[in-house]
Amino acid sequence: MQNIYDNHDFFKEYISLRKSGITYNDFVEQPAIKSVMPNFKDRSVLDLGCGAGYFAKYCISEGASTVTGVDISKNMINLAKLENNHERIEYICKPIEELDFQKTFDLIISSLAIHYIEDYSNLIVKIKSLLKENGEFIFSTEHPIVTARNEANNWVKDVDGEKLHWAVDNYQEEGKREHNWYVEGVIIYHRTVSTLMNTLIKNGLRIEKIIEPQSNSIGLQKMPKLINEKRRPSFIVIKSSIS
Ligand SMILES: C[S@@+](CC[C@H](N)C(=O)[O-])C[C@H]1O[C@@H](n2cnc3c(N)ncnc32)[C@H](O)[C@@H]1O
Repeated sequence: MQNIYDNHDFFKEYISLRKSGITYNDFVEQPAIKSVMPNFKDRSVLDLGCGAGYFAKYCISEGASTVTGVDISKNMINLAKLENNHERIEYICKPIEELDFQKTFDLIISSLAIHYIEDYSNLIVKIKSLLKENGEFIFSTEHPIVTARNEANNWVKDVDGEKLHWAVDNYQEEGKREHNWYVEGVIIYHRTVSTLMNTLIKNGLRIEKIIEPQSNSIGLQKMPKLINEKRRPSFIVIKSSIS
């Protein structure tokens, strides 16, 4: 499995972007995923791919009893411990694929990390086993219409560089894609919408809500290019629960 967030150049660029506060996370993905969160009061949370702990801290501020944040990247976990520490948060530096908890959680969340996991089917089996009765699993991931194509830049433009439309191709070919994002060779995994949904259903998770978010109004002012989220969604947010 790749650990691109421990690549020095990638990490520097990524954190600098996140700290700018002018990102797709701030105006598109985070408002959407937060909008489907349940009441956190006295609930235990597992955050898969917790990064620098922004969401873990948010859960605590909303009343979560405990948060366990897991991430493969030492850079991320070190930053989380430095900037988003709390007595009720435990950060674990480990690949999601190797988790082996003895306990279960009320809520499992994952924000933009699941497209880095190769074996989605195995992941969902594990998540189901880590959920309490009535537990919920809520995650965001890159939208399949964005991850589908082998080439990274999907905008088809006219001779003046105006965006004509978004190209979708290779949709049914699930699997590895290599993109250039700050550095060459960032690996993600493409899955179809039906695989994302049906794997949850097969494992006894009931789909409660799907969001293909657009930018909020502040985002449209601060990042005008977010108007393109109306033309094609970059992310999908899926809320599921044990039925
Ligand atoms: C786009 S960042 C999102 C971080 C955080 N969830 C947030 O929203 O701020 C993706 C995170 O997933 C982590 N990640 C990627 N593959 C992983 C794996 N196999 N196991 C654990 N964490 C992983 C990365 O290290 C990175 O911190």
